[in-house]
Amino acid sequence: MRAVVFSRYGDESVLELTERPSPTPTDGEILVEVMAAGVNPVDWKHREGAVQSDRPFPLGMGWDVAGVVRATVPGGPAVGEAVYGMLPLPYGGAYQELTVLPVSAVAPKPARLSFAESAAVPLAALTAWQAMEAAGVKAGTRVLVHAGAGGVGHFAVQFARHLGAHVTATASARNLDFLHRLGVDEPADRATADLAASGPFDMVLDTVGGPVQHQSWHLLRPGGTLITLPEPVDEIHRLPGITAHRIIVAPDGEALRRIGTLIDSGAVHVEVQSVLPLEKAAEAHRVSAEGRVRGKLVLSL
Ligand SMILES: NC(=O)c1ccc[n+]([C@@H]2O[C@H](COP(=O)([O-])OP(=O)(O)OC[C@H]3O[C@@H](n4cnc5c(N)ncnc54)[C@H](OP(=O)(O)O)[C@@H]3O)[C@@H](O)[C@H]2O)c1
Repeated sequence: MRAVVFSRYGDESVLELTERPSPTPTDGEILVEVMAAGVNPVDWKHREGAVQSDRPFPLGMGWDVAGVVRATVPGGPAVGEAVYGMLPLPYGGAYQELTVLPVSAVAPKPARLSFAESAAVPLAALTAWQAMEAAGVKAGTRVLVHAGAGGVGHFAVQFARHLGAHVTATASARNLDFLHRLGVDEPADRATADLAASGPFDMVLDTVGGPVQHQSWHLLRPGGTLITLPEPVDEIHRLPGITAHRIIVAPDGEALRRIGTLIDSGAVHVEVQSVLPLEKAAEAHRVSAEGRVRGKLVLSL
């Protein structure tokens, strides 16, 4: 099968499109023919060596897939069924024609989405979903999502709105209309907005890290929750009375089934900035690493 792999950590040039043996499912796993693979920042962080694997090189790449079941397990989806899912961290293997996933990590592909759009969903949407659960977001919660136009952010603002929260989200000026269309109550220009004037917030989702995490503590009300994604909580900046933790996304087929229902009902929009052929994996990494993607990048197979 064709697969994008890498044999040492480094820049985009270490990615190699090559022929690899097809994977064989083990207990509880299904074999999926990959039609599209989602691209996430963790992909190029993995390639750079920030997320290391205990498996030998060459290593597979990517965690998000949409495709067709080619071998299944009792009680699993039927052979020929269209599914989407997230591979377990830390072993990538989405940028390839065939992959194996635990049956518990997949759900039926949302009917209204293409394979490419479906592959944009799992890791980013599950992260946003698990962040909402971790913070107990519900009707009336005041939520601030940093980078609301990004992969995780655009799902987070829509899930929060669906739960009845009041949502403020940051983006650059060119993305404020997009945030408005997603239902954000208060789109905030990240260069100029006075976020303290929109707060205090019950929950802040930090998708950026560094100074954004530090600033976030002061935007929360006592009893509020800070969820960080890119980095652990920096204890030096901790303020009393605020719950703060980093979450690490986990595969969850049941949550993907519920997210798919929201997508098919029209309640959640999936934004795909561009779809590139598998051969352009290096270009997709370069664009993702620039940090300006609106929604998601996807590779088609
Ligand atoms: N812990 C976990 O399990 C987990 C899971 C998923 C993601 N993550 C991490 O979370 C981060 C976000 O992931 P993602 O997939 O959402 O990334 P992404 O899609 O690449 O984010 C791109 C967006 O970030 C915005 N942005 C860039 N710098 C910003 C800033 N200083 N302030 C506000 N917005 C900014 C850009 O919007 P504008 O151009 O409009 O500014 C762009 O739309 C990454 O570091 C990723 O590795 C962690």
